[in-house]
Amino acid sequence: MKPVAIDAGDYRLRQFHKADRPALIEAFADDDHRRYVLNYRLLDFSDADRYIARRAAEWARGVRCSWAIAEARVDRLLGEVGLKDLDLRAGTAEAALWVHPAARRRGVAVTALTAALRFGFDTLGLHEIAYLYHEGNLASAAVARRCGFRFVGTFVSSDGRKLLRCLRVTE
Ligand SMILES: CC(C)(COP(=O)(O)OP(=O)(O)OC[C@H]1O[C@@H](n2cnc3c(N)ncnc32)[C@H](O)[C@@H]1OP(=O)(O)O)[C@@H](O)C(=O)NCCC(=O)NCCS
Repeated sequence: MKPVAIDAGDYRLRQFHKADRPALIEAFADDDHRRYVLNYRLLDFSDADRYIARRAAEWARGVRCSWAIAEARVDRLLGEVGLKDLDLRAGTAEAALWVHPAARRRGVAVTALTAALRFGFDTLGLHEIAYLYHEGNLASAAVARRCGFRFVGTFVSSDGRKLLRCLRVTE
């Protein structure tokens, strides 16, 4: 699959590039980010390079559409949104999201996720997108509510914590 950029008002969803590395490393060092975004270690530029290459490879393999969320005016990295575990045949995916600590609480997550959902439903033809978050992640719970997700159940994740599962389906 070829990467697609999306204009979302004040924000531009685009591919990651090398200039994003310092902001990537800062975001992945944040306590809340480390608490809720598992599976990645980004300590230096080499880690960041591998992360950027991995996201590009996932687009190419058609398994995940990921976008760097950039401030449109100055192209500064503010976060990331994506549709992972893409299954085009089944019409399903799971949304993933983080915002740099310096850019939180000003609507970046809701705007970016709304744009990614529109791409998933309208461009990819998905019919169901999931969103999972840890119990106690109040910011994520608010984002899920604002983006029209419906709570469907809980389960225990591999790290022993409770995860809430929400779904959004095509209108
Ligand atoms: C969750 C996260 C992506 C939200 O990003 P954001 O850009 O700050 O979110 P927004 O500004 O779009 O806010 C969306 C809603 O969340 C609410 N919110 C944001 N931060 C909050 C917090 N710390 N506590 C409670 N509510 C919060 C906002 O008030 C808003 O709700 P409202 O419209 O009803 O007022 C961000 O906090 C983050 O990256 N956290 C660490 C990583 C993470 O948890 N990722 C998600 C894993 S599932």
